[in-house]
Amino acid sequence: MVRRRLAGDGPSPVCFARRAPGPALLPEGARRLVVARTVRETHDVVTLVLEDPERADFAFTAGQFFTLLVDVDGETVARNYSASNAPGQRELHVTIKAKPGGRVSGRLCRAAAGDRIGVLGPFGAFTVKDAASPRRLVLFAGGVGITPLLSIARTVLAAEPEAEILLVYANRRREDIAFDAELDALAAAHGGRLAVHRVLEEPPRGWTGATGRLDRANVARILDGLPSIGADAELFVCGPEGMQDEVLAALAARGTTAIVKRERFAIGGTASPRAGDRDAAARRITIIAPDRLIRTTALAGASLLEAGLAASAPMPFSCGVGGCGACRVRVREGEVDLDEPHCLSEEELAAGYSLACVGRPRGACTIEIGRPGREGGER
Ligand SMILES: Cc1cc2nc3c(=O)[nH]c(=O)nc-3n(C[C@H](O)[C@H](O)[C@H](O)COP(=O)(O)OP(=O)(O)OC[C@H]3O[C@@H](n4cnc5c(N)ncnc54)[C@H](O)[C@@H]3O)c2cc1C
Ligand code: FES
Repeated sequence: MVRRRLAGDGPSPVCFARRAPGPALLPEGARRLVVARTVRETHDVVTLVLEDPERADFAFTAGQFFTLLVDVDGETVARNYSASNAPGQRELHVTIKAKPGGRVSGRLCRAAAGDRIGVLGPFGAFTVKDAASPRRLVLFAGGVGITPLLSIARTVLAAEPEAEILLVYANRRREDIAFDAELDALAAAHGGRLAVHRVLEEPPRGWTGATGRLDRANVARILDGLPSIGADAELFVCGPEGMQDEVLAALAARGTTAIVKRERFAIGGTASPRAGDRDAAARRITIIAPDRLIRTTALAGASLLEAGLAASAPMPFSCGVGGCGACRVRVREGEVDLDEPHCLSEEELAAGYSLACVGRPRGACTIEIGRPGREGGER
């Protein structure tokens, strides 16, 4: 989780509170998009169709995500959402599942046409490599993990007339399947080059597709019934962590040598540290900013970024999930654990750099940050 205080700085990027208009403070590089319309995909999944009043189209690579900046009780909270449409359009589609107890997703699912949202990005490397046509993609989606895979499927089918895509798409119940009709339409429009295998954990009476959880035994069973995955195939996995692990284990057990990419929706501290955590241990952090020294105490489990922003330090950041390097800091004293995956090189690690968004202090530490928009720490 990433947050930034906006007290007294004008309207929030998402106007849930419908505050008076005025200049809002957004991180450098953020765009202010407008919700053009919303589409209800299922009982708890909504697509926000976003437009940029200042630009004609959205440049990103299919499979990438954007960081949405949302006002929650006076502070801006950042969450990542993959594009679900193909790039190069006037609209950006992000498809959001409302998480029970989540701080942001439910609010976004209640957004309305005309709301404004601060957006950073695109980010991420969950993308297809340059076309070695005719290519074959095998996509495993669990629940809302369909979003980047749908963008990839839409893009590749349209751009590569010989590409073939096999999508294994798991959900709990029939009513949880987002983009059900779109997937059928996409398959029909591309002459069967897209094959969709739906898997339901709790199938309704008369269901003819696969059933059960997407665990390794079930994945193996499903793959047994499908054309074999060649060594040249590209495999993409996106869904709940447990499902991803099971799919990867099933593929490894079959000796699959194809390129496998996974997108983690849960990295980057989506579980918010809370002051009331019973075993919360104080962490003292000293932040050397370009113009001042800030001393704060982090909540247990908080990232350096969360701790810094909570103390109103001018922390540079962008993606919030270890993927862009914008939040790079130099660790002057103490030790910082870095969540995997992250984008720091061996040389940067050896030079004492860390990433604030996925770096968690082991104890008291001192970090040095750069100016927002520049690289973190002294060179
Ligand atoms: C690269 C990437 C792409 C993504 N793409 C999408 C996408 O396309 N669509 C999509 O819907 N999501 C996507 N996500 C996930 C998304 O960013 C959010 O994590 C998700 O919407 C939940 O946010 P939230 O603020 O509602 O929940 P949070 O407030 O972050 O909480 C998440 C869950 O943790 C629980 N929780 C929170 N704090 C605690 C605590 N202290 N103790 C115990 N439990 C706690 C909450 O009850 C909730 O169930 C993506 C994530 C990443 C990293
Ligand atoms: S904000 Fe992108 S790596 Fe930390």
